[in-house]
Amino acid sequence: MRSRHPFQPSSPDLELFPHAVWAKLLEMTWHSPEQALLGRPDPAGWFPLRAAIADHLAAWRGIAAAPENIIVMSGMSESLELIGRALLSAGSKVLVEEPGYGQLRAAFADAGLVVCPSPVDSHGFDIAQAHRNWSSAVAVAVTPSRHYPLGMTMPLARRLELLEWARRRDALVIEDDYDSEYRFEGRPLPALMSLDGEERVLYLGSFSKVVSTALRLAFIVAPPRLARRLIARLTEGGSKASLVPQPALAEFMRSGRFAAHIRRMRRVYASRQQALVTAARRHFAGLLDVSASPAGMHLVATMTPALSQRMSDKDASRRAAAMGVSAPPLTAFYAGKPDRQGLILGYAAFDETVIERAAVRLAEALGTRPLRVCTRFLLF
Ligand SMILES: Cc1ncc(COP(=O)(O)O)c(C=O)c1O
Repeated sequence: MRSRHPFQPSSPDLELFPHAVWAKLLEMTWHSPEQALLGRPDPAGWFPLRAAIADHLAAWRGIAAAPENIIVMSGMSESLELIGRALLSAGSKVLVEEPGYGQLRAAFADAGLVVCPSPVDSHGFDIAQAHRNWSSAVAVAVTPSRHYPLGMTMPLARRLELLEWARRRDALVIEDDYDSEYRFEGRPLPALMSLDGEERVLYLGSFSKVVSTALRLAFIVAPPRLARRLIARLTEGGSKASLVPQPALAEFMRSGRFAAHIRRMRRVYASRQQALVTAARRHFAGLLDVSASPAGMHLVATMTPALSQRMSDKDASRRAAAMGVSAPPLTAFYAGKPDRQGLILGYAAFDETVIERAAVRLAEALGTRPLRVCTRFLLF
């Protein structure tokens, strides 16, 4: 097991997960399994789980989807590869956000697609500029709820512009909604999919941020005409999603415990983010600028000009690692030439005391005083 170092991003706090309830649900569903669990699994997933996801999306994301149009997957990479292979032809151009999620670029490339990174601005993905850069693209993948990793939310006008581009180009829109559950203030904007009257948006959800990355369960919501093609392809090739946890997850959702867990973790993560912002104010002056965000599991710490003169964000990240602090450099999220530098600070998996101590160590790692390398924390 790899140890977790603050501020490692992207992981939920697994210690606060209701493991006893989960264990009971697994026991309950598999102790004397119903017949349907013993036959050949449906490649689109366990139907009651698909139904529970449909109810959850209706209540939380304003998406009206029939369970038949929800496909259970093993993760985002499998979802993207399936979409690429079933709905796009090899060599098609797909627009992606710059900066953005490296695994998304890799999954598209594995599916034989041409990945076309194009910049985001303060409203998220800039579709007008992307169209100027790559006018023959036939699909776009975006994180409108909360850009990954910068954190801005795409306003309604930009969402409508994106859908209009897709209509004109007869293109697909892939909406990666990886952590929208964790919004601390205000109501989330409706999902892009709920604004789509043309059956062009595919919505990708994941259980990695609420349950566990190790669960390896995610899902695609597709408009009916696309869902049929995805399921046909999956039926040929087989699904990688294990059936074993699916009935337990369905029951966890159906019973309301899933939603209760999200509500609890929202409060916990909001308080941890506040602790990080407070610690940053206290310890990062002249080094890093950190501002609060109404959502998410990490913050981006921007390097001050004074710090940038002394080191790159990759150097800063290496120095942090030597002090037992995990802070990935922002430039690692770029496919091309980065236009800004910073560090990604995840707070979700760490309590307030750990956050304060890690902030002190990070400030020490980046400070002007000679580095006192903490051998106990050496990562590499
Ligand atoms: C931007 C983004 N999209 C999607 C995911 C979900 O991926 P998966 O379901 O494979 O864990 C993640 C997970 O970290 C992510 O950061």
